[in-house]
Amino acid sequence: MNPWQLDFRGFDPHDEGRREALCTLGNGYFATRGAAPESRADGVHYPGTYVAGCYDRLTTTIAGQEVQNESLVNMPNWLPVTFRIDEGAWFDPAQVQLLDHEQELDLERGILVRRLRFRDEQARTTRIVQRRFVHMSRPHLAGLETTLVAEDWSGPMTFRCGIDGRVTNCGVERYRDLAGRHLVEHQSFEVAPNIAVLHARTSQSRIRVAEAARLRVFVAGELIDPGPSLVRQDDLIAHDIPLDVEQNAEVRVEKIVSLHTSLDRASTEPVTEAVDDVRDAAGFDDLARSHSLAWAHLHGKFHCGLSMSGPAQQAVHLHLFHLLQTTSPNTVDLDAGIPARGLHGEAYRGHIFWDELFVLPTLDLRLPALARALLLYRYRRLQQARKAARDAGFAGAMFPWQSGSNGREETQRMHLNPRSGRWLPDHTHLQRHIGLAVAHNVWHYHRASGDEEFFVDFGAEMILEIARFFTSLTHYDRSRDRYVIRGVVGPDEYHTAYPGRDRPGIDNNAYTNIMTAWLCRTAVHVLRELPDQRRGELVDALEIRHPEIDRWKRISQRIFVPFHGDGIISQFDGYDRLAELDWDAYRQRYGDIQRLDRILEAENDDPNRYQASKQADVLMLFYLLSAEELGEILGGLGYPMPSIPDNIEYYLKRTSHGSTLSAVVHAWVLARSQRHRALEFFDDVLASDIHDTQHGTTAEGIHLAAMSGSIDLLQRCFAGIEIRDGALHLNPLWPSELGPLGLSIRYQGQPVTIEVTGRTATIRTSPGRKRAPITCTCGTRTVCLGPGETARFSLEHPIRGADPTSLA
Ligand code: BGC
Repeated sequence: MNPWQLDFRGFDPHDEGRREALCTLGNGYFATRGAAPESRADGVHYPGTYVAGCYDRLTTTIAGQEVQNESLVNMPNWLPVTFRIDEGAWFDPAQVQLLDHEQELDLERGILVRRLRFRDEQARTTRIVQRRFVHMSRPHLAGLETTLVAEDWSGPMTFRCGIDGRVTNCGVERYRDLAGRHLVEHQSFEVAPNIAVLHARTSQSRIRVAEAARLRVFVAGELIDPGPSLVRQDDLIAHDIPLDVEQNAEVRVEKIVSLHTSLDRASTEPVTEAVDDVRDAAGFDDLARSHSLAWAHLHGKFHCGLSMSGPAQQAVHLHLFHLLQTTSPNTVDLDAGIPARGLHGEAYRGHIFWDELFVLPTLDLRLPALARALLLYRYRRLQQARKAARDAGFAGAMFPWQSGSNGREETQRMHLNPRSGRWLPDHTHLQRHIGLAVAHNVWHYHRASGDEEFFVDFGAEMILEIARFFTSLTHYDRSRDRYVIRGVVGPDEYHTAYPGRDRPGIDNNAYTNIMTAWLCRTAVHVLRELPDQRRGELVDALEIRHPEIDRWKRISQRIFVPFHGDGIISQFDGYDRLAELDWDAYRQRYGDIQRLDRILEAENDDPNRYQASKQADVLMLFYLLSAEELGEILGGLGYPMPSIPDNIEYYLKRTSHGSTLSAVVHAWVLARSQRHRALEFFDDVLASDIHDTQHGTTAEGIHLAAMSGSIDLLQRCFAGIEIRDGALHLNPLWPSELGPLGLSIRYQGQPVTIEVTGRTATIRTSPGRKRAPITCTCGTRTVCLGPGETARFSLEHPIRGADPTSLA
């Protein structure tokens, strides 16, 4: 197995959606699904091109209600390349005898190759090779090259290459009742006999998009001028290239495309930029070379080597590949967040959730400038979050559960259960915990990067405003003499209300409450840490007075945490009084019960009735907070630290893992006490998209948090990398039988490589005369490493079964 390559042999229409999503090529500015160039959206294929941050809103009447949905727009399809022999039909793989069909995704160079041989109804055999890239260092450029060889025939043929603006957003079956025609006012024209342009604008957000395509044709290696003819309507433009092919002579058609929008920087307007770009662009091979070089540089920064396991290594490469295709150095200058499903499909309409909680730790330690840019996406929406809080009767900043263009709440108000065919009210916007994730990300970026400027100028303000919001969400409950939070939804989306109660939301979600305590403590800390001048400015501008700070302190000492049984943290008030689900019966009846919510609703039942969770909720606490931190918070609240293994066991039995995030969290929380189970969950994380473990969801977009979460598991969980108190801490815990784990990170601006096996770690700094020494700590040993130096650490206890130093 080549760990840098993903191969797809043959053609399976049922698997085409997954393959297209996995073969998406992108560069953090835009991405295009791996659809066949001759295909259109037809239920099997789905060509989709998405530009980071380009959203549009449309209104539809659903179940008698007007709903507005904002979507990441499917841009004009730049892929179309097809051909016909003589005056025959345009190439359609379904209408010929396919002798060979294979696709290779080269994860190292970022190139997708498709090879096919076919015999047509006149028994002519033709061979095709197509290569494509979406350029990593020229973010507006993409290339598609088609090489055709007539194996046993000669004669006339025509290539047709164009840009198709007739696309809509219709990639997700269950959204098809919703309006999806986002592009309007299409226009197309040619600017030279080999350059076609199509432009349009989005309907409501009025973003202009232009694509230009330049064609070059080579016969037997010679550039020719074939005299193409134009095929044009407003929303479609193509060139027909007539050719006379000779048996065994190679015909090569090279299409170089440029995509620009009116959101771009350093731009006069998109059409001019797109045309100038393709006029100036080098040829396919040269561009492919510079593109691969840009990838080589990125791989260097993100090296993540699992020496013993080919499949695991391949999955890790795939995950890094898609992470960097969704968000990359090209994203730094954009106003874009991290869409949960990448730029790879239309699930969740390209919205941004709390998933960056699982993505930023990988970026914090490798591309801090990118992590900072992604946090600034939130900062720019702070005003909108303040307005949302105010409109809902709260103070501070209430970030939306789903975010898109301007930070308005984009969570759908109605969702379709495809099992029952019913449209249902959606209350998941009550996941107020999104704000806790934003604050946590800000705080951890600051710790990992040491970026004081960001903290002082932006981060502190975000944390203070979010703390203010959560404070206003709490109420003092006299009967308990504690602060409570009512009417929210926790990370587990199966529980959005109490059974039989009209009002949505549940009370005292333990995750939300404990993280609110964390936030209030952090806010006090932030005020203390700020330089005097900035503290003064913020206190003045935000009108923070002593009584408010006192309230933060009180909440961090008196917020209510529900417990039941023998030290089990209740997911929320009353969780333990819900019915137990007969998991075995449901598994027997339905096999896959990941989407238990849909199953129950289709049975006219309700997941709210059961102690059944979609994903880790209470266990998120053990994921985000170290045992020491959690103990300290609970201690501060006057609660004893519960047994982590007991809590894990309790919720593990009651979780359907209906979100791919769940396996990341479970692998993490089990790593230090039950290595084998942790590795099983780790394998699930690696399999999420490559094997489409949710049976059909990968086709609608990759699961970016799981992908990035797998890298974070390697670095922070198994290698135990943590940056705190000005030092790089290591707490390695890696099954030595899997061979050494090698990682590259960036610490204090310096490239550092770390090798881990079992409980030993070797750390190397890169050479360079001007580099300052770094401090590394492992167990009780601390060393100061100068440039080009190496240190080897070993923790005393080898892992045998349960880890004796387990925090649990
Ligand atoms: C999960 C959320 C997640 C979202 C986007 C949902 O299925 O329940 O936690 O943020 O997917 O990935």
